[in-house]
Amino acid sequence: MPRREAPPIRIALAGAGTVGGALLDLLDRERHALLARLGVRFEVVSVLVRDAARPRSARLDRARLTDDVDAFLRAEAEVVVEAIGGTTVAGAIARATLLRGRRLVTANKALLRAEGPALASLVRAHEHLGAALDLEAAVGGGVPVVRVLRDSLAGHGLTAVRGVLNGTTNYILSQMERGHEFHAALAEAQRAGFAEADPSRDLDGTDASDKLAVLSWLAFGTDPRTLRIRTQGLAPDIGARVAAARLDGRVIRLVAQAERDPDGHVRASVAPVALDPTHPLARVQDEENVIVVESTSAGAITLHGRGAGGDATASALLADILRSLPHPARSLAVA
Ligand code: NAP
Ligand code: HSE
Repeated sequence: MPRREAPPIRIALAGAGTVGGALLDLLDRERHALLARLGVRFEVVSVLVRDAARPRSARLDRARLTDDVDAFLRAEAEVVVEAIGGTTVAGAIARATLLRGRRLVTANKALLRAEGPALASLVRAHEHLGAALDLEAAVGGGVPVVRVLRDSLAGHGLTAVRGVLNGTTNYILSQMERGHEFHAALAEAQRAGFAEADPSRDLDGTDASDKLAVLSWLAFGTDPRTLRIRTQGLAPDIGARVAAARLDGRVIRLVAQAERDPDGHVRASVAPVALDPTHPLARVQDEENVIVVESTSAGAITLHGRGAGGDATASALLADILRSLPHPARSLAVA
């Protein structure tokens, strides 16, 4: 019997840059497969950008494009996806979305570090209206670490989260190991869409630190605003450090780690570390990320994959959007 076609899930998308643009491409590319597999269709009802008059790719329906935040928030949508970055406009969109009892899907780790617990409180207060917050895209790009911490390991006593959480710096370090120059590698990371709009957030360790704060919040319940994270990025001597490590048979990785001691105190840091190439955190190349989650019962679980870039991040956004499907529809995927 043919499956009855459900009404489309309406998406309001804030941001049509590297991540938002890749999400539009992915929804378009997967349209038939999603309908066949899950019986679900999506309609992007509004796309918020900073400058709606700027020339755009032909895939963007100009009729849906706006640079008016209020008009964007008035669009009728089941899911609001935030991929603009920053905390001011993004924060206003996030709060308004949850206050209206809608699902927010965000890729914005800076916002989650600044406002994660407040947004979670809004979800609890408006859950009965449908408010929800999903953040898989904010940490690890296409690596599903948020789902693992929120769902799979929710009942475990977690003791540590360690990883390489920034694709841009890892890309630069990998390229320098191959003999490329720092500035050329950074320019290539920017061209590929790995870097933040302000790449100093990648280079000085802020981006990795924001992500570690979010992971510690999910793993240990620490407040991401107040968790102290000793943070070092790639200093000007990084070329010399990469060369010295290579002579020593080692590689440099920007390692982020948070460990909880038996008293519940969490010690957290981000810093370049020289590692043996066989170390689990050393094996990441280019824009890849790796995250090792340690727990008393399950031991160490390692997740490894593409940590930055439009396509990887869009796949995480789509996974979160699919969480808005009613459970019976989702279960069809495994039937
Ligand atoms: P991006 O390429 O700079 O795109 C940003 C988009 O947001 C653009 O379309 C821009 O409009 C719009 N925008 C920015 N500020 C705005 C404002 N105040 N009002 C309205 N629209 C605004 O950035 P991105 O790389 O896609 O990153 C977006 C978010 O995803 C950030 O939070 C970032 O940290 C996160 N993220 C990025 C990656 C990645 O690999 N790039 C991965 C994971 C998470 P215009 O088009 O008019 O400029
Ligand atoms: N700029 C970030 C990075 C994007 O390089 O990891 C992914 O969050």
